[in-house]
Order: sequence, then structure tokens, then C-alpha cells
Amino acid sequence: MSQQDGNDSLWGGRFSEATDSFVQRFTASVSFDQRMAAQDIRGSLAHAAMLEASGVLTADEHQAIRDGLATVQQEIDAGTFPWSIEREDVHMNIEARLTALIGDAGKKLHTGRSRNDQVATDIRLYLRDAIDAIAAELTRLQRGLVELASTHAATVMPGFTHLQGAQPVTFGHHMLAWNEMLERDHGRLQDCRQRMNVCPLGAAALAGTTFPIDRAMTAAALEFDAPTRNSLDSVSDRDFAIEFSAFAALLITHLSRMSEELVLWTSAQFRFVELPDRFCTGSSIMPQKKNPDVPELVRGKTGRVNGHLMALLTLMKSQPLAYNKDNQEDKEPLFDAVDTVLDCLRAFADMVPHIQPRADVLRVAAAAGFATATDLADYLVRKGLPFRDAHEVVGNAVAAGVERNEDLADMPLELLQGFSDLIEEDVFSVLTVEGSVAARDHLGGTAPTQVAEAARQAAARLDAR
Ligand code: ARG
Repeated sequence: MSQQDGNDSLWGGRFSEATDSFVQRFTASVSFDQRMAAQDIRGSLAHAAMLEASGVLTADEHQAIRDGLATVQQEIDAGTFPWSIEREDVHMNIEARLTALIGDAGKKLHTGRSRNDQVATDIRLYLRDAIDAIAAELTRLQRGLVELASTHAATVMPGFTHLQGAQPVTFGHHMLAWNEMLERDHGRLQDCRQRMNVCPLGAAALAGTTFPIDRAMTAAALEFDAPTRNSLDSVSDRDFAIEFSAFAALLITHLSRMSEELVLWTSAQFRFVELPDRFCTGSSIMPQKKNPDVPELVRGKTGRVNGHLMALLTLMKSQPLAYNKDNQEDKEPLFDAVDTVLDCLRAFADMVPHIQPRADVLRVAAAAGFATATDLADYLVRKGLPFRDAHEVVGNAVAAGVERNEDLADMPLELLQGFSDLIEEDVFSVLTVEGSVAARDHLGGTAPTQVAEAARQAAARLDAR
């Protein structure tokens, strides 16, 4: 049945009735894949240039396609492009509009390609741009952390295990721990970018094409490192989207850990840090409240990003080769993972430089709970006592401190000497929180000199990106 008989879709030739209107809506992706329009046009320009070079299109046809696609892009930018679900997806919307604008040359653009290699190309182009934007925000956040670390290389705070005070650390050291998590996330992001940066164009529907295409030419024009090696695989696997989502899930998991600490630290019970008012909100009923909404919301966003990873893994599971319509479901989770991660990074990158640690509160908290007990044990070991015996001596001293409600550093020397005659006047230099952190003076340790140097190196790594 011909197009005049009521089915004017791009595949109308084979069909004898129009698509059911609900099915049309159900199967359309244009409402969400139109965000890849710029990438779709870029891919078409590369494909058309290659078709001319291969002698499939004339120079005039190629020129008409270029002009037509420029008009399409202008219409999209101006918001006047006639998007229609009758054209199902971004690819067919653009092709149909191109043909309406330039006639027969528009109908030749699809020679030697399929929407299957086209969409696989578009998503990669889109994701590559997204990855670069995310990497830039991640770097901005890391710069803020490293700056904060360098300012507070010597600001002592409690270090925790089991969320119980354990040993004093410095605030800078804590910021650099966060930075390490993000440094690995950045590495994972770059790994993902590198593996996905290959060009599926030429795979066509699944088996390749009978036209004399030049796959190296389109790959180069689109700044891919190489063409993909297998046409079946090119149009079917979305592992790169899964890999990106795995990166996103880990990143947001890290951001959720930072968020959780900020939520704790800003509470009236901790008072470790102050966040500027503009990153917080109040309560409509409790006048005293200043809520850390930004970290809370970032913590909460973890659920949806982890959900997207599960959605994409499940989407791919058991799919037979090659392309299946299931894959149209890859876009919404992927796009939302991109948007969410970008927003969360932006919020954090804006906020982090304005985190103000309260040095006085942190110092008192760092000393609480016999935080320098390990230092006393190490002191006794340096004086010749085996570590297990030293552990026991200090345990007794701590028990006395609990009884007297007094920290080790505040106990009289005679009392401490009652637990071991190895203890001398010099013990007090190891019992202070400053002495405790300064003593951990090695690569990866919390001594202020080490933290300052680690911050310098971290900044240099960021500069070298
Ligand atoms: N909208 C489709 C998608 O997102 C494009 C590819 C469709 N190909 C096909 N043969 N139905 O995957």
C-alpha cells in the first residue's frame, strides 16, 4: 500500500494499515531522544561527507544536505522544529524534516546506514560530551577540597572508627580522603570514555552495508579513536551506558558519604562545621532550624542513580544479538544519571569552598574519649615495653580516667607513673592532639606537614588533567 493510502511513515511501503495511535505513542522515543538532536545532526554530516567522498552522493546533494541540516539545527535551537511522534524518534524526525526542506537529496542521506548504527553513534557522541562536562565539574569539586585541605592541614579533628572517636586527625587529611575517592571516580570516568570512544557507523542494521563506505573517515570526522570492529556487536551492546552508570553509582555513593558526614557535622550536637545559609533552608515551624538540605538531597539522589544502573543491567540481560527495541529503554535512565550526577557535582562544587570548620570545637572533640591512648602505648613501646603489655598499661590508665572523668593529658604525672615507671615528664608531648597528629609523619599519614605536601601533589595532579 502506498503512502497515499494513509501510511506515510518512513517504512510505509510494506504496511497495509497505519500504526495504531496508542502503539505509535507507546513505541515513540522522540519525547526523550530529541535531546540527542545535535549529535544526530553531527553524525549525519559526517556520514554525508563520507558518502560524497565514496561517490554515492554528488557534491550538489551533499551541499543540499548540509544546508538542510543547518536549517534543521536552527529550527531546533529556535524552538520551531515540528517534532512529531508520528516520526517516532529523533532520527526520523530530522530525516523527514530534511526531506521536506530539500527534497530527494534528503531521502538519500540514509544510504548505507540504519537507525541502529545511527542511534549507537548518537548515544556515544552524547555521552562523550556528558562525560567531559562531568569531568569538569568533578575537577572543580576536587579543587575545592584540595584548597580546603591545604588551608586546614593542621586543624585537628577527631578521627572515627565505628563512628566512635578513635584517634585525632587533621581536617585537611579528612578532605584529602574525600578527594581520593573522587580521584578514582575520575579515573573510572576516563576509562569509560576511552572504551566507548569508537564509531559504530557502517554497521548499518546489523551486517554492514553493500555501499563503498569509508568507516575510518566517519570515525575520524566524529573524533572517535577508531571504527568498531564487529557490526553485530556495534548495534547491540549498551555496555558503555552500563559502565557509565556504574561510574555514576559509585560517584554518588561517595557523594552520599560526604553528605552524611556534613549532615552530622552541621548538627547542633556536633557543631564541627558551618555551612553558608544559602546552601541550607529553615523550617516552617521550628524557628531555630537550619537544615543541610543540599547534602541531604544529594544523599537521597543515590537511590535513583543506583536504580538506573540496575535498570540498564536488567535491560541488557539475555538480549540476543543484534539490535532489539528493548535498547530504546537505555536513554531515560542514562540521561537521568547524567543530569543527576551533574547537578549533584555542581551543588557540591559550589558549596565545598564555603565549608567552615570550627577549629575550637574540633580540637575539644579531638581530645575527648582518650583519643591519644594509642600514642601513650606507642610511647611505652619506644621505651622498650612490648606492644601488648603497653596496651594493657594504657587500658588501666584509661579505666582510671573514666573513673575520674579526666583525660590522659590532664592526669597528674605521679598518677600516670603508677601505671608504668617508664612514664616520664615528656609523656605530655605525645598526649596532646597536636603531638598525636604530628607524630604520624609518613606518606599517607595525618601529620600537618604530610597533609600540606599531599595537598600540593593533589593540586598538581588536577593541574595536569
Ligand atoms: N529509537 C530507536 C532506539 O532508540 C532507534 C533505533 C530503532 N531501530 C529500529 N530498527 N527500530 O533504539
